[in-house]
Amino acid sequence: MTPATFTFEIEGGEFLSPSDLKTIQRVGQCCLSVEGVERPCCAYLLLTDDETIQTINKEQRGIDRSTDVLSFPSAPFTTAHTAGTEPELLAREWDAYAHACRLGDIVISWDHVCRQAEEFGHSQTRELSYLIAHSIFHLMGYDHMIDHDKESMRKMEEKALEKAGITRVSDDELIAKAKEAMQYSYSPYSKYKVGACLLSSDGRMFTGCNIENASYGDTLCAERTALFKAVSEGARSFSVIAIAAEKSMPWPCGLCRQALNEFSPDLRVIVACGDERDESTLPELLPHSFGPSTGTSEYLGKD
Ligand code: THU
Repeated sequence: MTPATFTFEIEGGEFLSPSDLKTIQRVGQCCLSVEGVERPCCAYLLLTDDETIQTINKEQRGIDRSTDVLSFPSAPFTTAHTAGTEPELLAREWDAYAHACRLGDIVISWDHVCRQAEEFGHSQTRELSYLIAHSIFHLMGYDHMIDHDKESMRKMEEKALEKAGITRVSDDELIAKAKEAMQYSYSPYSKYKVGACLLSSDGRMFTGCNIENASYGDTLCAERTALFKAVSEGARSFSVIAIAAEKSMPWPCGLCRQALNEFSPDLRVIVACGDERDESTLPELLPHSFGPSTGTSEYLGKD
């Protein structure tokens, strides 16, 4: 089944990069997926500064203070009746024009995003992703007023971020490792050096380079070198792969897409060449894929 999509109507986010936009959309989609929501959903997202969020906080909640994020749900979900357990309640929020269920409004202070990213030592994208996930779970009924609720909300946020490939290891670090691995490339025939760094769900990094052969067909791409190293060391699930090359953006070949799909169909894929970078996901790069659960009645990937 294809996962339900999440769309944002964004105001004030002109400074977000296309890759940030893709990321927050993926985070939204992963929130729906871990919550078990099957209908497409949408939310209005205002990206603003401390001053404006303070005004909104004062007007709407009577609290004269700036904050990082505010969520205003449309549907009356509660911690005991969240969006995933109340499909009928969710269906009432269907907006035929948006072709999605309207979950509510989110306000985020970009000033806070920047400060908190620095404080926690991670990227602004990771901080924004966390706040997006946090507010979407609020819109779906989650809360953190008492310890028990806080714990389950935190677990859901973590699951969604992990599924979206937002990890504690930064993209910069993965790209740097891929570039380092590229230096070991054995490519006397094509002279096209490639390096890859694959991050497993348990936080390990596996690197690889392309290895060519005088019998050309015996060549192994960098991505599969990293993948096979990882699987042979017990890793079976991955959140993100960074691939670097010197001469052009190294989008993975068909064979590598298929090989990666075997283990992590939701994988995030980052490509880098010099200072240029771009990203996508396996579902985008390998649509209508054939995987372990497609062709067999028994899932061969399981032990
Ligand atoms: N190559 C990779 O390492 N990864 C890919 O996804 C595409 C191609 C390598 C294989 C070969 O050594 C060289 O690039 C030229 O095809």
